[in-house]
Amino acid sequence: MIVSDGKVGTHLSEELVLSQIRTLVDSKVGRDEVLQKAAELLQRHFPNYNWVGFYIMDGDELVLGPFIGKPSPHTRIKLDSGICGAAAREQRTVVVDDVNSDPRYLACSLDSKSEIVVPIWKDGKMVGEIDIDSDRLAAFDRKDQELLEKISEELSKVF
Ligand code: SME
Repeated sequence: MIVSDGKVGTHLSEELVLSQIRTLVDSKVGRDEVLQKAAELLQRHFPNYNWVGFYIMDGDELVLGPFIGKPSPHTRIKLDSGICGAAAREQRTVVVDDVNSDPRYLACSLDSKSEIVVPIWKDGKMVGEIDIDSDRLAAFDRKDQELLEKISEELSKVF
């Protein structure tokens, strides 16, 4: 039933992910456990999300937090570099359809083709970011962005 109609299926899947994220947040386990489980949940629901992780603001740097996927060499990112740094500087979600043609891109894996970085806000300050890579070009559309921004809002409660 869920997969018989692309639109209905997507909608149901999004509602399901959001409700599972809310349950996680309400479970009152620690921040990093919530973030780790959220990363696993997102990858399970969206198999084209190949690397799903979180960066945490620490002074003027982003520090790698929980993630799922290959280990990244970028465990600390200065705000003047990377797509992650761009999202922090511009204080908005950044979507890159083709990472290899974006000079800001810091490579995490040769498999990655596109990326989305969504800031996490708490009391008007950016406290972290959701970072997702895909092995497909232009994998992230408006719907992905909207869902991830809602998820970011939920996850801000554990910061
Ligand atoms: N690609 C990111 C770096 C983090 S890795 O993808 C995990 C960037 O350009 O900021």
